[in-house]
Amino acid sequence: MVEFKIGVGTLNLSERCKRYVNQVLDSNRLSYGPFLKKFENEFARIHDSKYAVFTNSGTSSLHIAVACLKERYGWQDGDEVIVPAVTFIASSNVLIHNGLVPVFADVEKDYYGIDPSLIEDKITRKTRAIMPVHLFGLPCDMGSIMKIAQKYGLKVIEDSCETMFAKYNGRSVGSFGDISCFSTYVAHLLVTGVGGLTVTNDPENAVILRSLANHGRDNIYIHIDDDKDKSREELKEIIDRRFSFVRMGHSLRGTEMEGAIGLGQLEEHEEMMRKRRQVASKLLDGLKDIRQIQLPKIREDCDHSFMMFPVVLHNESKERFVNYLESKGIETRDMLPLVNQPVYKKFFGLRENMFPIADWINKNGFYIGCHQDISEEEIQHIIKVFHEFFSFGGQIR
Ligand SMILES: Cc1ncc(COP(=O)(O)O)c(C=O)c1O
Repeated sequence: MVEFKIGVGTLNLSERCKRYVNQVLDSNRLSYGPFLKKFENEFARIHDSKYAVFTNSGTSSLHIAVACLKERYGWQDGDEVIVPAVTFIASSNVLIHNGLVPVFADVEKDYYGIDPSLIEDKITRKTRAIMPVHLFGLPCDMGSIMKIAQKYGLKVIEDSCETMFAKYNGRSVGSFGDISCFSTYVAHLLVTGVGGLTVTNDPENAVILRSLANHGRDNIYIHIDDDKDKSREELKEIIDRRFSFVRMGHSLRGTEMEGAIGLGQLEEHEEMMRKRRQVASKLLDGLKDIRQIQLPKIREDCDHSFMMFPVVLHNESKERFVNYLESKGIETRDMLPLVNQPVYKKFFGLRENMFPIADWINKNGFYIGCHQDISEEEIQHIIKVFHEFFSFGGQIR
């Protein structure tokens, strides 16, 4: 009998990635250099953006995005940012770490993104920004969100840690907000071990972001190449300012190793995305007749990157079903419960029923993998196991 083990993520480093890593090793250079630079530039270009700054995590990328806007626009401690009631906890943690207050808004029942129809009610005199989170690979309703942001003069930070290579109305995720953030952590779309990218089209933001990730350094000299090929006057200016720190920054840098792996995967992303979308389409087709579950839906005029495959049960016990799947070698994860986390209940006094859709998802939602290394046999196994459970009422046989 075949033993299945279908994980929520995958990693299979290609020959190209290994070649790039070896080039890094041969170069004896690990600090910011040609690989990270090329990775940033290419990533920004693919996401319809001009600038990208690589950091050591998606959370760090979000952290500097928030800090940058707070500095630039003079936000005060206690100012508010509207975030969805379903997301990974890092989205809202970075606000708290920056002295701001996350204000939660419930999400859409069909797509799980922040519900634009609930945002205006959350706006107060202290609201400074909206942080839509493109969960599971699907862009939020950016048309409606950007309209509200413009109407009230709010900034937009896209948390796109779960979504790359997806367009909304022909425009890439990451190109709508003032600043947008991506993660390359394990089980994401690009996987460099740890890593994140902060992306913007605004040159002033780009300068502040790079400085924030590098101890708050004067931007005249952030990386060791910044004094190459300069005139005598320029060099004098650099030497004068290169140990100067102009803001409260952090040490959030990556290494050339992540740059090499990231660039290698980026150059192969089209094939990876084609396979993911193919796996998703076969799962959607094979599971479409099961009435007891809500399958992922693709918003009109949008791509879905299918970082994962979210499922919400209508009337079944999630515990029983999830245990059944795990017993059949299909790994699962909760669908990002946030407002019921012990630390947030304590911090914000949140109660059950304040966010009915989030509650419904927390009680009934989970996801399985949808990645490029899931084989045809594994797809058929997933489809069979789902049908088995609902035909036989989950009696593990
Ligand atoms: C929506 C969302 N935001 C932020 C993060 C944080 O990214 P990282 O784990 O790279 O810090 C994640 C990551 O897993 C995420 O899913």
